Amino acid sequence: MPKVTAMAHANLAFIKYWGKVDFKLNLPVNGSISMNLSSATTTTSVHFDGRLKGDTVILDGTELKPDDPRAAKVSAHLDRVRKLAEIDTSAKVETENNFPQGAGFASSASGFAALTVAAAGSAELTLDQKALSRLARAGSGSAARSIPAGFVEWLAGLDDHSSYAIQIAEPDHWDLRDVAVVVSDQEKAVPSTQGHKLVTNSPYWQARKNQVAHRLNRVTYAIKERKFDVFGQELEAEAMAMHAIALTSAHNNSNGTWTSGIYYILPDTLELMRAVQQWRADGLPVYFTLDAGPTVHLMCEAQHANQVQDAVRELQNDRDWQIIVSEPAGGARVIDG
Ligand code: DP6
Repeated sequence: MPKVTAMAHANLAFIKYWGKVDFKLNLPVNGSISMNLSSATTTTSVHFDGRLKGDTVILDGTELKPDDPRAAKVSAHLDRVRKLAEIDTSAKVETENNFPQGAGFASSASGFAALTVAAAGSAELTLDQKALSRLARAGSGSAARSIPAGFVEWLAGLDDHSSYAIQIAEPDHWDLRDVAVVVSDQEKAVPSTQGHKLVTNSPYWQARKNQVAHRLNRVTYAIKERKFDVFGQELEAEAMAMHAIALTSAHNNSNGTWTSGIYYILPDTLELMRAVQQWRADGLPVYFTLDAGPTVHLMCEAQHANQVQDAVRELQNDRDWQIIVSEPAGGARVIDG
């Protein structure tokens, strides 16, 4: 079978996927909306090869041990592809990310989107975008949204067939920028898969569920009509809503100790969140969102991106922050093979 290489972008959620109704199929409680990020990519090659005795996974140049949970997740995803293609051949998978993992860029999104497209290609399956998105979703929910290009909505659906992502608008529809400020490159303490399980522990969970349908409509409208302030206000309020749930998801840790909630926000994160309020008051149109990590994503229109970066650098002083600027990007695609 051919070796196929695919590339996919990470995506930034404007409306968050936070909570599942089905943990095996990754069926979300609510629909979500995102934009693919030009500067955050995963490139993955897959080669189903009859000579191999088992799957091998090479991540950023290092072969993962078979008992590494990441290798197990990749093999489980290859199993889904093998089932569809009716083969039992092992595969060699080589994958590289160009951005820090676990720090607020969902590496699982671009990772499973690229893996899905490369594996389907190597297994010589012909799948349309909907089928690829459904398949990617089973690997990691947010990966469903990295399949289509540009601005994307993941339709929550009711079952495996009806839960997949569609395009809202092409990448060139709206010249937005994500100025991502990576304030720490440490792995997050609570993986998002765990966070999804804890949402019902929050006493505010029902309120969030009631609010999200209206917010989906507002953000879709704001994207289609390019209404930046409507977009920004929903975006920022949504990030706070997700973190309000996380911060109030009390739980027992694996070591038996009790924690009042999940803290993804670091002191530098909070400083940036507060600075954004001041920058807006000073007339700079910029809003933030956060995922399950300390990275702050500052959203603005392209004409303000330099001013936003200048403001970040002034605040940064001599701290070790990394700024990564992205524009809306294309979907997951084969680049070789
Ligand atoms: C905070 O897609 O990483 O980034 O389906 O368990 O793999 P799994 O979860 P994952 O969750 C992403 C959560 C988020 C919000 C979002 O991307 O919508």
